[in-house]
Amino acid sequence: MKIAKISGIGHYVPELKVSNNDLSKLMDTNDEWIYSRTGIRNRYIAVSETSYEMAGFAALRALEKAGLDPIDVDLIIVATFSGEYATPSMACLVQKAIGAVKAMSFDLNAACSGFVYGIDVADQFIKTGKYKNALVIGSEKLSQILDWEDRSTCVLFGDGAGAVVLEAGDDVGIIDSVNYAIGEAYECLYAKNVGNKTPFYEEQNEHKLMMNGQDVFQFACKKVPEILYEVMEKNQVNQEDVDYFVLHQANVRIVTKIAKRMKISIDKFYVNMEAYGNTSAASIPIALSEMSEKNMLIGKKVLIAGFGAGLTYGCSLIQF
Ligand code: UT7
Repeated sequence: MKIAKISGIGHYVPELKVSNNDLSKLMDTNDEWIYSRTGIRNRYIAVSETSYEMAGFAALRALEKAGLDPIDVDLIIVATFSGEYATPSMACLVQKAIGAVKAMSFDLNAACSGFVYGIDVADQFIKTGKYKNALVIGSEKLSQILDWEDRSTCVLFGDGAGAVVLEAGDDVGIIDSVNYAIGEAYECLYAKNVGNKTPFYEEQNEHKLMMNGQDVFQFACKKVPEILYEVMEKNQVNQEDVDYFVLHQANVRIVTKIAKRMKISIDKFYVNMEAYGNTSAASIPIALSEMSEKNMLIGKKVLIAGFGAGLTYGCSLIQF
């Protein structure tokens, strides 16, 4: 059986950088509150870029690193919930943008866990031999679904995209993944689709992102360690064997709490939300892309873990 190897990683963030101080000129907030509660200092906001353009740029960078021609891409999965179009999928728009004309293309919505879910799905296609390669992309333009009147959510998020190329190989790659959902708790974090306007009734939908931050915080701190332990035990890997833990970049306090709970040195956790804010499905591939640029990944064992709306959560064990 083949193993899906990560052969290229890339990311893209919009041109406009917005600091906490910039936000404090627009609303009643300040750098001290945002940074001390979240570890976030800056985020990027897409003004001139669409979410599928960001996805396409990240994909092209990942393909270039992998040395793979877009025309040879078999599968494109875009993890997103904030694209411009309800249909077609963002994956089809990316396919067009990069010229990956023969790729099966679809989107996957598992919110901030979307990239990890996408890795698991693409891995199955490659393991079974159905496809030789896949692009897994996380791309979000959350700025267009945020409630900019709600300072408790809008300061947390940012726009951006990250992508990886998976290719069938024989030695290293995705070792295993576990993914779950707790639909029962969906009201902790949701965004409805735009309200219906029919000749018969007008639905007053709230289509901005709504979040009960403390519930999501508790959920992440409880469930992420559980799945990290599960995948390590299943694959007989100790936490000492893991070089890096790359969690969804929502809040540095979540990362430190999980590190403490699992008694793992915080130095093993890659953290970059200071620069990007929470970019949902894009946060893990952006982090991996940065790590790859810093030559941190070659030969390393890495656990990635996502958590978010659904509620969804999942992790993958990867040997680079
Ligand atoms: O990617 C999806 C997953 N999402 C997450 O993982 C988010 C998880 N949750 C969190 O990260 C945290 O719960 C938050 C960062 C969202 C909030 O932190 P918190 O420590 O739970 O703060 P809080 O909501 O309890 O708010 C504390 C205070 C409130 O004031 P009062 O009522 O105590 O007077 C808020 O009104 O902070 C106030 N506040 C703000 N003040 C300045 C809320 N937002 C702001 C703000 N600037 N932007």
